[in-house]
Amino acid sequence: MADEVRVAFVGAGGNAQGHMGRLAEIENVEIVAICDLVEEKVQQACAEYEAAAYTDYRAMLDEIEAEVVYVSVPPFAHEYAEVLAARKGCHVFVEKPVVLNMDKGYEIAEEIDKAGVLSCVGYQLRLLDSVQRARRYLATRTIGMVSAHRWGGFPETAWWRVMGQSGGQLHEQTTHQVDLMRYLAGEIVEVYAQYSLRVMSDVDNLDIPDAQGALLKFQDGAIGTIVTSPMMRQGGGVSDLKFLVEDHVLEWQIGGNILMPDDDAEVTGEPQETMSIDEAFIVAIRSEDSGTIPCSYRSGLQTSAVTLAANESARTKKPVEVPVI
Ligand SMILES: NC(=O)c1ccc[n+]([C@@H]2O[C@H](COP(=O)([O-])OP(=O)(O)OC[C@H]3O[C@@H](n4cnc5c(N)ncnc54)[C@H](O)[C@@H]3O)[C@@H](O)[C@H]2O)c1
Repeated sequence: MADEVRVAFVGAGGNAQGHMGRLAEIENVEIVAICDLVEEKVQQACAEYEAAAYTDYRAMLDEIEAEVVYVSVPPFAHEYAEVLAARKGCHVFVEKPVVLNMDKGYEIAEEIDKAGVLSCVGYQLRLLDSVQRARRYLATRTIGMVSAHRWGGFPETAWWRVMGQSGGQLHEQTTHQVDLMRYLAGEIVEVYAQYSLRVMSDVDNLDIPDAQGALLKFQDGAIGTIVTSPMMRQGGGVSDLKFLVEDHVLEWQIGGNILMPDDDAEVTGEPQETMSIDEAFIVAIRSEDSGTIPCSYRSGLQTSAVTLAANESARTKKPVEVPVI
């Protein structure tokens, strides 16, 4: 029987519930404690997993014994849970985007390093078979240009529409494509962004832009663009990532693990099964080997550095260098 792994949660929202469900299916993994500010959510989740209920993560981390802490809260709500968990010797899983403020991210990264615990950020798309095949294909080629779209719908969550809480769609949601750009094409070193509010000013309390575009410069000289909008409130959408490699275009689509090479590209179209990010993290913890973890805290923070630089660029109307974490 594999070693028992006890998991505690900070945040019991929609995303956390997905992780809980997947973890509960892994042999000998137990969800021992759950914390959320909303008592009703905690009680509901705790009843399902027979976990201890908390509304204060400090009290929870003080009292419980666990090997792993998941932090699944909105971007503005990252406070000290990661730091306290790392100091306690717990491995930490943090949801993307890991912060809204780079200083907080540096503090957490240092504490994780100091404690020597494993970390994982919820960039699960890196694990997709199509992404792995794209990575192998692109690794030996010169990428000229990269482009990404995310044109889709609007999450109803109250915090998502507030710039000071979510950081806007590029930082909060389209971060997945920015992360894949880094993962597949190398580091992004400079950003120049333009944002606008075109059609969504009728939404209550909304102060995020609904049209965001950024021009990106990669470390090796490649140029990228990313355009993103949540204005398709009636459904539908486009979500892709394209790489121009001399005479070929490699296209990846977010829905369905699809890779669409043009006729001559030497990558197959059929996706294979991949493990969930939760399974990958538990495997790493049990084997004490970070090899299966798709994205460490520092790498996740580097992705946030790109989108926070874009926000600064849109504010200042100047190109912004992306700090190296
Ligand atoms: N990896 C992915 O594909 C993916 C998918 C969905 C969401 N997410 C990320 O997960 C995070 C949470 O998203 P969600 O959809 O679950 O949001 P949500 O609003 O449904 O849930 C967030 C929960 O965090 C709780 N919370 C906030 N501050 C807290 C605190 N100090 N202590 C305890 N609980 C606290 C809130 O009460 C809420 O219940 C976001 O960063 C989001 O981007 C990632």
